[in-house]
Amino acid sequence: MSFVSYSTLTKTLGVCSALLVCHINANAANLSWPKVNTTLKPDPAIEQQLDAMLAGMTIEQKVAQLIQPEIGYLSVAQMRKYGFGSYLNGGNTAPYGQKQADAKTWLKYADEMYAAAIDSSEDGSSIPTIWGTDAMHGHSNVYGATLFPHNIGLGAARDADLIHRIGQATAKEVAATGIEWMFAPTVAVVRDDRWGRTYESFSEHPDIVASYAAPMVTGVQGEVGDTFLTDYRRIATAKHFVGDGGTQNGIDRGDTVTTEQELRDIHAAGYYTAIAAGVQSVMASFNSWNGKRVHGDRYLLTEVLKQQMGFDGFVISDWNAHKFVDGCDLEQCAAAFNAGVDVMMVPEHFEAFYHNTLQQVKDGVISAARLDDAVRRFLRAKIRWGVFSRGKPSSRPESANPHWFNAPEHRELAREAVRKSLVLLKNNDNLLPLSPKSKVLIAGDGADNIAKQAGGWSVSWQGTDNTNADFPNATSIYAGLRQQIEAAGGSAELSADGQYRNKPDVAIVVIGEEPYAEWFGDIQQLEYQQGNKRDLALLKRLKQQNIPVVTVFLSGRPLWVNKELNASDAFVAAWLPGSEGQGIADVLLADKGGVIRHDFHGKLSFSWPKFDDQYLLNVGQAQYEPLFAYGYGLTYADKTELAPLSEATRAQSVEDNAEQTPLFVRNLAEGMLWALSDSSAALKSFNTPSAVSADGHSITMQSVNLAYQEDGRKFVWQCADNSVSASLIYAGAQPVPQDIRSKSLQLSIRLDSSNMQNELKIAAMCQQQSCLRTVSLEPVLQNMAAGKWYNIALPLHCEGEAGPVNLVQEAVRFTAAQPFSLAVADIALVNTVASSTILLECAQ
Ligand code: BGC
Ligand code: BGC
Repeated sequence: MSFVSYSTLTKTLGVCSALLVCHINANAANLSWPKVNTTLKPDPAIEQQLDAMLAGMTIEQKVAQLIQPEIGYLSVAQMRKYGFGSYLNGGNTAPYGQKQADAKTWLKYADEMYAAAIDSSEDGSSIPTIWGTDAMHGHSNVYGATLFPHNIGLGAARDADLIHRIGQATAKEVAATGIEWMFAPTVAVVRDDRWGRTYESFSEHPDIVASYAAPMVTGVQGEVGDTFLTDYRRIATAKHFVGDGGTQNGIDRGDTVTTEQELRDIHAAGYYTAIAAGVQSVMASFNSWNGKRVHGDRYLLTEVLKQQMGFDGFVISDWNAHKFVDGCDLEQCAAAFNAGVDVMMVPEHFEAFYHNTLQQVKDGVISAARLDDAVRRFLRAKIRWGVFSRGKPSSRPESANPHWFNAPEHRELAREAVRKSLVLLKNNDNLLPLSPKSKVLIAGDGADNIAKQAGGWSVSWQGTDNTNADFPNATSIYAGLRQQIEAAGGSAELSADGQYRNKPDVAIVVIGEEPYAEWFGDIQQLEYQQGNKRDLALLKRLKQQNIPVVTVFLSGRPLWVNKELNASDAFVAAWLPGSEGQGIADVLLADKGGVIRHDFHGKLSFSWPKFDDQYLLNVGQAQYEPLFAYGYGLTYADKTELAPLSEATRAQSVEDNAEQTPLFVRNLAEGMLWALSDSSAALKSFNTPSAVSADGHSITMQSVNLAYQEDGRKFVWQCADNSVSASLIYAGAQPVPQDIRSKSLQLSIRLDSSNMQNELKIAAMCQQQSCLRTVSLEPVLQNMAAGKWYNIALPLHCEGEAGPVNLVQEAVRFTAAQPFSLAVADIALVNTVASSTILLECAQ
């Protein structure tokens, strides 16, 4: 197999120690990308079958094969009419809009779509459709599924066989719901841990990613020449090709500025082994490479991936990613097809996209040869999987295994994975393992919080709107500890804030990041809880009371936690362990006789920072100065004492120098929530994309798109009453720590009703009514057209007025006196207002 070894990697890194100082060659250099050596060979019989099929298909049927709608937007009738080749469910959608739909309901939905697709009455085609789902850490979109640790934890486990078994178990759970295709594994090699998808990556090191991609693919798809795509095996996807983990400043969907050599040797490492193992689909990446969007990059998708590497499967685009390609928009993108994307993920605008693509084929903008090549690649995978012979989803033998879904042996496997993924960073005085006979305080807001231990891509997309009730078969970390402690005769007291009734012998404090996915999780610096050291205060309080402290840290990436490490006697990096919280008790607790049951096994697959500004800390660099190096991880035999660490920060405080403080820019800033108030002034807050006021009707909120998916919110006032309002509230423990007197509140606004005679008000709130700033939008409304976005700004301090000093509780509130509808996005505090922005005047 032509995988680039670690020694080649270190040489590369030696030449250019920091990615950014490298000289960047123009794209499409003369580097060669080795051909992948795979035993998956073209099958003449299948190719003949494809020739015959293609000869008999109309261009309408061909185009329909290549378009992938999403179930939140697609109806069964539309599937019947067009016969789309595939469809997906996104991270926030489940069949029939039921978040808690059970496996049987998913299967029923698969049957309905299947029947509609093979119904040839309207489109003349009876080609079966296939369903794609993310299944990123287990069948993670489905209520009640087994949730394995996210990839970052699996990277620490350093166990390729475990990965293979997880691939198999996940494929079985997916099979039990009738779904054919998984958008996993992610084989990103993440270099800047500020990226919000770091946890989807096995490692910063290409070797681990390469060594895991193949066993995961064979776990999901079976072995080429043997079990390949038979029985419960599903179609796998290696994603996101290529350079997703290398974007500048860790910005999701950003630009990966790097040489072709690094793109090949670091970022593409997982594709070599995934393709060798027979992976059938590769997802193109949102990111650009040196300024050019990968979705429009023919060199990378066609010349490199398909021709040089020899990938004979199909390329699927990412969610609406085509709209970023030059010359494209949501409803058309010949450039992506021509670059080499075969199947287009067009969640919402699939009908327009279908008609536009058809026209582009007729006009020759997309050639007949390219169309046929794309269809051939997709149908080749469908034939290999047997979609033409397996029948409808519920009739397939593997679907008759409902007991596969959340099977006890899968839960056991996930628990094993949790044990193996834990990395022991500190164990002074050998505090761990603990005796299960002790009196244990279990504290921290992560202790009994399955949503937090599961992270993003768990039942919902961001994972933020979940409670323990959304994980019916899961065990929290606390529940696992309590069960084992009580069984051994000890006692466990749960107290999130650390206030106890009985003084404990020891405290286990479970803390860490709140769930996030994709760009919602991008951060600007690595300090944990910067500006709000809530958990540190808890650790210190316990230490002051002479209670030994074990910190269990839940996170999607290494963070700068020197202060928390100093305030803990033992410290465990537990990543995002998923549904089987008992795995933590298995390792932390000895047996009754003090004998170790499971030692620590995990080794860091990501370097742990010593300073808060080490964004690009990666093994192999010339100046490599981690706190805990790649590969670090104590065991119970180690007697290492960690001396107190420096608590000085180096990163410039993001807030102090910020030209702009985001409150809702692409996502809610930390501590912010949306809130809706109904006519009885009952206020209800949300971090979900859609919501309705407490009375169920006065005002609704839903997500809309300005520049990114779901980066805006639309509010519809059903009744007119001054107490019905939408606001952005500050729900953190402290007010936004900022003096806002020199600032303006800036936002984008779109009026969605033409009723401009409204008394629309916008207010910046503070603690006392006297300093509330309320401005009517009426004077500017007449200059605004409905349906268009405008930037407006509200000065926060006006001459002669007290005005707010801090934004307390509510940052902005919108009220309307009559039924109305508006959308807002990009809400921030700014120092200077751009000249194109409509400035609301103080006198208003
Ligand atoms: C993500 C992909 C995912 C797709 C479908 C995109 O936003 O980047 O990883 O497979 O959505 O949910
Ligand atoms: C995600 C989807 C999600 C959607 C919400 C996409 O970027 O990949 O899975 O449901 O955004 O708009």
